[in-house]
Amino acid sequence: MSFVFSKLENELINELIKYRHYFHENPELAFQENNTTQKIKDILQSWKIKILPTKLKTGVFAEIGPQTAKNTLALRADIDALPIQEESGVPFSSKNPGVMHACGHDTHIASLLGAAFLLKQQEADLPGKVRLLFQPAEEDQEGALHVIEDGKIDGVRAIIGFHNTPGHPIDAIGLHTGIVSGAIDKFKVTLKGVGTHASAPQNGKDVIVALGAELNLLQTIISRRIDPFKPAVLSVTHVNAGNTWNVLPQTAFFEGTVRTADKEARKQIKTNFLKLVKLTAEASDTQADIDWYDGDPSVDNDSWLTEIVKNESRKFASIYEQVPKLGSDDFACFQEHIPGVYANIGNGYNVSAHNPKFKADDRLIATGVKFFTHNTIRILNELNKRKRVNEG
Ligand code: NI
Repeated sequence: MSFVFSKLENELINELIKYRHYFHENPELAFQENNTTQKIKDILQSWKIKILPTKLKTGVFAEIGPQTAKNTLALRADIDALPIQEESGVPFSSKNPGVMHACGHDTHIASLLGAAFLLKQQEADLPGKVRLLFQPAEEDQEGALHVIEDGKIDGVRAIIGFHNTPGHPIDAIGLHTGIVSGAIDKFKVTLKGVGTHASAPQNGKDVIVALGAELNLLQTIISRRIDPFKPAVLSVTHVNAGNTWNVLPQTAFFEGTVRTADKEARKQIKTNFLKLVKLTAEASDTQADIDWYDGDPSVDNDSWLTEIVKNESRKFASIYEQVPKLGSDDFACFQEHIPGVYANIGNGYNVSAHNPKFKADDRLIATGVKFFTHNTIRILNELNKRKRVNEG
């Protein structure tokens, strides 16, 4: 049985572009993707694709393939938009004020829909099952976790997904084995002292001086404690203390984020952070209440699977070396459980994601469809072979 997906019919692509424009015009924020969810369901049902039951209010999960097949591969597309007022000027701009598909997730949805259609056409002959994950709330960093809790990767052997990427042509696919994105952690600190008259600091416990010391010393964690060959960023992004000129306040607040590409460096920064903030507060006669939030881990591409995807994708796209970045994607959460590959597909423009002028070329959808369909067949075949070797 041979699968020919390279000659995508124009008719299908035109239909997918229409869907993409619809999703772009009607963007919805994380966990509020109600209309998007309904529309995806309607399309899949019109193609007689089986929708799986879910406890989640948004997101669509579906399955294609022979029920007797042993191996299942998951294909993931994120579906949420951002709280940004669109300024791209495209004729299908957002009709929802203050909300925009400024990360191009609308192109991911359209690509996965196209793959679903084509895989459904050859369902009986597929070398395994395909689980479609139209995942909510990627921007919220919570969506993937909810999908996992809902059991949607239970029994799945591997997962693939992609993100559209500015600065590359629409027929170029970026791939890299290992870590390609940062782990993302967040902190909030409240310093508690004793407020007093500005003219008599000896009667209080000054949180502003303590805050200054904290902010300076925090920058020594990465520069003095972490191996310079392990990229890391610690940014304090919001500080707040006091509200007038002659009062020393009772409390001060700061928050920010840590991004790392290395698991050890990530742990080390957290340990150093907690110690340094606590001891510096104590040394300043104040008290620090620290909230640390462990966020998503790094996207970490499996080497065996990445090689397969690279070799297969060369048949229909030009492959470039994906440069790791400290941005994040909660695709990483799936990879904590099963091997996965997260690729980049060029979007044909140069405006960065999350910008009000962000644009993505419709034609990347054809590359996205090929990425999903070709690699589905190839990976399922390789998994079948691997299983036999393991069993033999
Ligand atoms: Ni995104």
